[in-house]
Amino acid sequence: MKRIGMGLIGPGFVAAHHLDAVRRLGDVDIVAIAGSSQESAEKKARAYKVDRAYGDYKALIADPDIQVIHNTTPNYLHLPVTLAALEAGKHVISDKPLALNAQEGRKLRDAALAAKVAHVVTFNYRGNPLVQQARGMIARGEIGALSFIHGFYFQDWMTTPNVYSWRSDPAKGGVTSALGDIGSHWCDVAEHISGMKIVSVLADLATVVPVRYSAGASAEAFSSTVAGERRPVEVQAEDLASVLLRFENGARGCFSVGQVLPGHKNDLQIELNGRTSSLKWRQEEQNELWIGHYNKPNCMMAKDPSLIASDALPYVHLPGGHQESWADAFRNVIQDAYTWIREGGHPEAKPAPLPTFEDGYRSTCLIDAMLKSHAAGGVWTSVEQN
Ligand SMILES: NC(=O)c1ccc[n+]([C@@H]2O[C@H](COP(=O)([O-])OP(=O)(O)OC[C@H]3O[C@@H](n4cnc5c(N)ncnc54)[C@H](O)[C@@H]3O)[C@@H](O)[C@H]2O)c1
Repeated sequence: MKRIGMGLIGPGFVAAHHLDAVRRLGDVDIVAIAGSSQESAEKKARAYKVDRAYGDYKALIADPDIQVIHNTTPNYLHLPVTLAALEAGKHVISDKPLALNAQEGRKLRDAALAAKVAHVVTFNYRGNPLVQQARGMIARGEIGALSFIHGFYFQDWMTTPNVYSWRSDPAKGGVTSALGDIGSHWCDVAEHISGMKIVSVLADLATVVPVRYSAGASAEAFSSTVAGERRPVEVQAEDLASVLLRFENGARGCFSVGQVLPGHKNDLQIELNGRTSSLKWRQEEQNELWIGHYNKPNCMMAKDPSLIASDALPYVHLPGGHQESWADAFRNVIQDAYTWIREGGHPEAKPAPLPTFEDGYRSTCLIDAMLKSHAAGGVWTSVEQN
């Protein structure tokens, strides 16, 4: 079997899960990683048991043993790193958001199509078996026409003002925080499961923690425990938001996101109400799908290969009662990405559930529309994408 060489740029929190997922595929070699300096790259390479370390991402992209680039850098580096990889003719798996805004997102989508390579954005919740189950049930008309799609994505890791990293710096993380970081996931899941596009939005944003305390030295995102003196930094980006939605078939929706909501760790929930039945899926209890009925008792479907529809089966790896998790769903998306890469990124070979740069670009269009809606005082705003 022909082996595939990959290299990863940006070895922080989420990078470990990209490497873990790739290792589980069996026919992909982790050739090298690139960090923000030679020293940090070597330290991470030792920790992740990777042979080659580069202090400059351009050197990694030029490595002839590498055919696939994983981009897990902070958001502001997504554009230059991904563009350089595409220009070198490499397949790219970028973490989300694809870019800082729709203008950048469109540039990357266009560059990926021109390069004729595989282009993937890790909207990893698509890799959950019961997300695929729900998508299939809706596509087959099993719950009737959708009328209402709603939910939330709540976290609490930014509750303390001592959390400050590139994510809260508009030049590095982008002008949005909660919407871009986790609202992007929720909207992707909503459109993916429903099979419908959001056409207009009305958004209300708030910054619950307007001053954060930077330890200066902290380069990585999830680090509130860095020792030393801290300086106050004014934060502009929202850490709480609620958005009303209109879908293309006339269905209505709404969702809220927050990163400062005590007790909520990674609490993504989505409910889709059809005319005959409803479905509800919650990330923190991801092995269950609630099915609600009007004229018979509601039920809870377990993630069990003997119950799941055939199109969702490739995403299940364990028998019923054996819990699968965030990392397994992430691995499913990476598995689909390499299925596409093995076919040279040919458009017709793309596994249907796999999120591409088109989806990444779409996400930036949605978030831009929400920011525009809020800035205009909370008015209905069309989602523009071309
Ligand atoms: N799919 C998901 O659910 C998910 C989860 C977490 C993060 N993410 C995304 O992944 C990206 C990284 O987030 P993170 O939480 O891992 O951040 P992080 O801060 O933990 O890691 C970023 C890494 O990039 C390195 N870096 C900085 N400049 C660099 C450069 N010039 N060259 C190479 N490396 C450089 C940093 O030193 C750090 O190691 C973000 O875009 C984020 O939105 C996605």
